[in-house]
Amino acid sequence: KLHSSQLPKPNSAGVYSTTFKLLVVGDAGVGKTCLITRFVDDVFSSTVKSTIGVDFKATSIEMDGKQVQLQVWDTAGQERFRALTTSYYRGAHGVILVYDVTEQASFDHLASWIKDVDLYSGEEAIKLLIGNKDDMPDKKVVDTEVAREFAKDHNMLFMEASAMRALNVNAAFKLLVAEVMHQADTIASQPPAFEHKLKVNAERSRRASQA
Ligand code: GTP
Repeated sequence: KLHSSQLPKPNSAGVYSTTFKLLVVGDAGVGKTCLITRFVDDVFSSTVKSTIGVDFKATSIEMDGKQVQLQVWDTAGQERFRALTTSYYRGAHGVILVYDVTEQASFDHLASWIKDVDLYSGEEAIKLLIGNKDDMPDKKVVDTEVAREFAKDHNMLFMEASAMRALNVNAAFKLLVAEVMHQADTIASQPPAFEHKLKVNAERSRRASQA
């Protein structure tokens, strides 16, 4: 699990020196790589290869006039890579879970992705659900309100997007980073007693998990 000391904290000038780690997971073919390349390089390719194992891109975004460094981890959705990719989940501050709005199965499999994220990244990681490929109204099968409700029930932020049409991609990443920064700020501004309580709780749950 993420401990408060692992969260990036702003210095007295409000500048984050730490890099935020973002992780992107979901079924094969939902468009994880395309969302990342749209966000990082602002390009789209319809002939992108399936990711083998994990891939990684470094970038930065401006948040409230400050540059925030990001590491974006792309993972293979294929089941055969599951054991390998989960070993990269640790330390993620934010996780993007992606499904394809035209592929019911990719939505139905989200529960299993959430389980892995909670187990390997820790429940403190901020989660964002993206319904990608929202550019084919005739083929859409996952209802927006059903997905929104599902996201709410699992404590995830939610957005529908299209990597192809560049719809909501930047907005989604910004929403997630803003929430991660908000959590970091909240912890940084807690009085020492609260920090102490967090440590005690962490120690208690560590012991409980060993028992
Ligand atoms: P794995 O690496 O196998 O886990 O797949 P992935 O989730 O990274 O999917 P990828 O980005 O490789 O995209 C899969 C296919 O979906 C490609 O043919 C893309 O061109 C297509 N695709 C991705 N995003 C969109 C989108 O927003 N709209 C449409 N119509 N197609 C998309």
